[in-house]
Amino acid sequence: MPEKKYTVVFEPDNVAIDVFNEGENLLRVAIVAGVHINASCGGAGTCGKCKIKLLEGEVDSERSSKLSDEQWDEGFKLACRTNIKSDLRVEIPIESRHEKGVLTRQGAGQVDHVISQAKWGAEYENVAPEPIVAKYYVEMSPPSEDDNISDMARVGQALKRDYDIPKVTADLTILKDLSTLLRQEDWKATISVCRFKEPSRILKVEPGDTREKALILAVDVGTTTIHAKLLDAMTGKELAFSADYNAQMSMGEDVISRMVNAAKKGGLETLQKRVVKTINTVIDEVFEKAGGDRENLTHMVFGGNTTMTQLLLGLNPKYIREAPYVPVANLYTTLTASQLGVAVPDHVSAYIMPCVASYVGGDITAGVLATEIHLKQELTLFMDVGTNGEIIIGNKDWMVSASASAGPAFEGGGVKFGMRASFGAIEQVRVSPMDYEPMIMTIGQVKPKGICGSGMIDCIAELQMSGVISQNGKFNRELAEETWRVREGEGGWEYVLCRAEDTQLDEDLAITEPDIDNLMRTKASIYSACAVLLKSVGLQFSDLEKIIIAGGFGQFIDVEKAMTIGLLPEADPEIVEYGGNTSLEGCRLASLYRDKVEEAEVIGSMITNIELSTSNMYMDEYVAALFLPHTRLEEFPIRVKRLEEMHEAVAKGKLES
Ligand code: FES
Repeated sequence: MPEKKYTVVFEPDNVAIDVFNEGENLLRVAIVAGVHINASCGGAGTCGKCKIKLLEGEVDSERSSKLSDEQWDEGFKLACRTNIKSDLRVEIPIESRHEKGVLTRQGAGQVDHVISQAKWGAEYENVAPEPIVAKYYVEMSPPSEDDNISDMARVGQALKRDYDIPKVTADLTILKDLSTLLRQEDWKATISVCRFKEPSRILKVEPGDTREKALILAVDVGTTTIHAKLLDAMTGKELAFSADYNAQMSMGEDVISRMVNAAKKGGLETLQKRVVKTINTVIDEVFEKAGGDRENLTHMVFGGNTTMTQLLLGLNPKYIREAPYVPVANLYTTLTASQLGVAVPDHVSAYIMPCVASYVGGDITAGVLATEIHLKQELTLFMDVGTNGEIIIGNKDWMVSASASAGPAFEGGGVKFGMRASFGAIEQVRVSPMDYEPMIMTIGQVKPKGICGSGMIDCIAELQMSGVISQNGKFNRELAEETWRVREGEGGWEYVLCRAEDTQLDEDLAITEPDIDNLMRTKASIYSACAVLLKSVGLQFSDLEKIIIAGGFGQFIDVEKAMTIGLLPEADPEIVEYGGNTSLEGCRLASLYRDKVEEAEVIGSMITNIELSTSNMYMDEYVAALFLPHTRLEEFPIRVKRLEEMHEAVAKGKLES
């Protein structure tokens, strides 16, 4: 747990919470504390509902037209436009609170359910890179009558003498210019050597010492987004980062539709060109940001799921999709990036992270490499939830994997107002169990235009906790008499999160029953995949010592809420970590350290993949998980107890009000 910075006390209920980050937003703190403040515009500062009164302490607050001069002078602020600068005592005025009395939530005063992002590869921070392609500076004596070995042999001798490189080869393109280049700077030259598998290969020869000019690119080839980091090969320092949506998106949002399109005439070529187009865009951007010359690039490392890997390489993914689900290859030799159409010089080599199976790819191998599951004793569950759900369970001795056909619900797919986690996406939701009013927060604190995966998890957990939906995800129709927010819309029953005027849309933003169904199917498929994997090795959820959630969606996930809906198994929230983009991090490590490439290949061979579609257990587990949190309530004793307590407290609160 990081060091406490400040304490905020919310009055009149005297709810205290410790704050760990300087400048934390007050509305976000209230959400974490379980304190309800009306908030309808996602923190954009436009609805004016989140008024609080500052009683003690110092804040950084934006002046708002929603507050009169008199109110401002009296200490009123908008919670969403206020950042914390000291210990605080604030009062929530009656107009910002529940209409029907007060109810302090479970969780107030603690922040243990806020997930922290783990930092990977920290032990490598001060270790000088030793990449698979590196520049070696050599000084050679010129040939003489007594020493007239070939130029290539002379280079080989110098590399063995100075760097212990036993044997090197070079192809014709290198040999063509070798003699001229060596003599250009009086037999002083820098040789780029690829040391991936013996014999090592010379990729480039430059006159003089150019070792300080060496760059590397690590690229995560995601189904939705492509991320790239430009790195200094000498220091390992990150020089620039860039990301862009994969241009293949217009040919299908998930890998299945990409494969369908690849099977059409010219489809494979188009998909290959599109992914390369996006890679070239992100490369342009990193060079624009960092400066530098792409001539100085030595190599690139790519990590992607198996379908994305094959599409990048122009390999037909047809048999990935058809039983018995076979990829073309799991291990690839190094090739040159320009061969794929990547806009870099011809000498730049490309390493592809090894895949495991048709639906467990190089992104997962990279993820394991980054999180070091393969080096640790503790039993770890690793889940990368994107457009597909890929799961690894294991430790340093063994690992099993599976792919859950999760569907893109957490990335906004199949949800009426679903969107990816970008500006304007509702990422946090609280629903008052007293009057069913929501409290929402968007990414970027702008007016909402949709809801992302973490927002959906929050929303469904909150609707369940406040009794708006039942265990099977259906709306409590009777509530329509108590609140306008529960209503029968054109597409069936729904809960209105925001009125159109509080959004960037021209209609009300609502969560519908089909949205909830979709998310329940997704969470059931992930949970049941984990259950089957554990059972297949004779273990159970309580044996897990660590849970790592990777992928963009995990960034703002509330662990408590994910357990409440049964996406995550019930466990101590302390063992849950957010992994971030572990695929990119694994590619970064492999691009900087030769031994990490070797480790990645060992990881690939260590993992045993279990094909869920042929598992008898899977369908039973899946059906059992299609409830909130699960049909086997005994697997979620704490959440079930909290739910009962909440419903009791609400009934009592309503009775008293
Ligand atoms: Fe703060 Fe709307 S003004 S949430």
